[in-house]
Amino acid sequence: MKLSTSGNLPMLGQTHGNRSAVTCHLKCDSACASPPPNTSSEPTFAEIAAGQLSRRALLIGGGALAATAVAPALMPEFAAATEGRRAPGERKVSGRFPFDPIAPVEATKDALTVPPGFEWTSILRWGDPLFHNSPAFDPEHPNAEAQELQFGYNNDYLDIIVTDKAGRQALLVCNHEYTNRAIMFPPTGSQAAEAEVLRTLMAAHGLSVVELRRGGKGKPWKYVRGGEKNNRITAYSLFAATGPAAGSELLKTAADPTGKRISGTFGNCAGGTTPWGTVLSGEENFNGYFKADPAAPGSARYGLKNTPSTYGWEKIDPRFDATTPDYANEPHRFGWIVEVDPQDPTATPRKHTAMGRMKHEGANVRVDDDGTVVAYMGDDEQFDYLYKFVAKKKYKKGDSAAARRHNLTLLTEGDLYVARFSGQQKPGNDNLGRGTWVPLTQNGKSAVPGMSIDEVLVFTRLAADKMKATPMDRCEDVEPNPRTGKVYVACTNNSNRGVEGKPGTDAPNPRPKNKDGHIIELTEHKNAADATTFDWNLFLVCGNPDDAGTYFGGWDGPVSPISCPDNVAFDTTGNLWISTDGAPSGIGKADGLFRVPVTGRERGHLVQFLAVPNEAETCGPVIHDLDGSVFVAVQHPGEDGAWGDQHSYFPDYVPEGSRPDRGDWRGPRPSVIQVTYK
Ligand code: FEO
Ligand code: CA
Ligand code: CA
Repeated sequence: MKLSTSGNLPMLGQTHGNRSAVTCHLKCDSACASPPPNTSSEPTFAEIAAGQLSRRALLIGGGALAATAVAPALMPEFAAATEGRRAPGERKVSGRFPFDPIAPVEATKDALTVPPGFEWTSILRWGDPLFHNSPAFDPEHPNAEAQELQFGYNNDYLDIIVTDKAGRQALLVCNHEYTNRAIMFPPTGSQAAEAEVLRTLMAAHGLSVVELRRGGKGKPWKYVRGGEKNNRITAYSLFAATGPAAGSELLKTAADPTGKRISGTFGNCAGGTTPWGTVLSGEENFNGYFKADPAAPGSARYGLKNTPSTYGWEKIDPRFDATTPDYANEPHRFGWIVEVDPQDPTATPRKHTAMGRMKHEGANVRVDDDGTVVAYMGDDEQFDYLYKFVAKKKYKKGDSAAARRHNLTLLTEGDLYVARFSGQQKPGNDNLGRGTWVPLTQNGKSAVPGMSIDEVLVFTRLAADKMKATPMDRCEDVEPNPRTGKVYVACTNNSNRGVEGKPGTDAPNPRPKNKDGHIIELTEHKNAADATTFDWNLFLVCGNPDDAGTYFGGWDGPVSPISCPDNVAFDTTGNLWISTDGAPSGIGKADGLFRVPVTGRERGHLVQFLAVPNEAETCGPVIHDLDGSVFVAVQHPGEDGAWGDQHSYFPDYVPEGSRPDRGDWRGPRPSVIQVTYK
């Protein structure tokens, strides 16, 4: 049977940008199909860049770029771990984690594909009971109290933090970005039952912290039901606001006159684990959860609309109707970086206003030897910006309680910068540009004329517009390489780049109608985290390698096709791993996980490690190469809800006929999986 997608879902089968219509509708309120909220492109920059662009296009087309690309010094560790050139699928790729790359997988394949010699198992699936008193998974009877005690839906950011020397204990931390009511639960007949469904969806958002155990290194992990540190954070857990805008008039509501106590988190996309052991999570597409006045300050710039919200929570909770005076500021309480301490389930999670408000993809911290702490952040919207936060205080080394207490304050104070790229070239480097980190705040005060510090932090997009930041092709993960300090910026795609009436191509966003995305490699001046200028070059211009204009770090041998880079991670040798979201509409293949060296002879030699099932996106890669394990969060498998002959029951599907009481209805379960040697 074809599942009825009741409610306000769009027609199935359409696509917006690079995703299915259902994913776009649920995840980002079909942002790519709407006019981009940034209408403040900087015309002078496009002109400056034009000269460089035509030259780059020529170089890429002629294959000359490889010869002129920057070639960082060969790192000894990496040199030992690499071999000569080879094509995907031809021979084993060596290194500390050898595997035979897989060939591209058809987008309709309803299975997870891993290299030969590997196997995968799930660690946690939506609905798995986390506590001793958790009810068993029962999607026939949606129940918010039960869901609060179970693993949430649509896992995104993921980390597996090993907590003992023997490697037998770990904490799994995971975001639950959004929900898909139509494929989670069967239709209900009554308003009361539908209200409980809405509450259950709220409980399926947020984050999970779950203890893991295993028999020893290299063995698969299992989760511990009732683990002491197990925790669920939902769309109605209590958060504390920190930083200059905490307590601001702009954050006060009828329910919270302090402007410091915020209920819940949602739209939690990617994130990062800090050196002090906490997890940062980005509140991304918060706008789709509100009905709001688009004429209110900042509203339109953040995509807020005066229509029923995508999720309908305003039907059960008045704070989601921001058209009322009581809750006009409620949308301002979302769009932050949140910090969660997985070691302490009793700690109140925090929202850091010093890091700005945007559609935060995530945040990744770099700490220099002198203790300087910065966090890199992308605002994932067409033509939005790249940011850096520089903490005021220095990192304290060690595990002492005092060091830990201190480090927990690092993200509450500091300065926020936005990136302005320039096409200026260094002599002799055709593939290199310059850039400036433009301050939005300085010494805790506004650096933006005409805006107060509260306004800069709450309406960060408007502040960055004023300072003429460079509009980007949707910055997703922005992550420093722990071995080199170079920062990798995944620009996932931008179907509107260069379209009439929209900003044109420029040096850091060189492709019109950029459906496959690219990755920028950024080097801070003197490799200092808090530098105010940087050099940059294009590391990858993704797509089918046969297509003109694609570029793979100067590698001129065969590579795997790749489209829509989203989350990135590094292994212990400093190789970049890239997970993708949107490849079916880009290169016409399933999304997956890829590995590419960034230094040495094999720089740019990109190969595919796994592919996710039908309609899923690959999230949260975690690479434990020394341990022979790779983890990914498989998000929104079977999203379009096309059942019948096109079952998407990954990864723990209900076998046909095993639940006769459910009739034809059954849904997929987003899951965290581990890939290990057989
Ligand atoms: Fe939730 Fe930017 O992807
Ligand atoms: Ca994405
Ligand atoms: Ca993402």
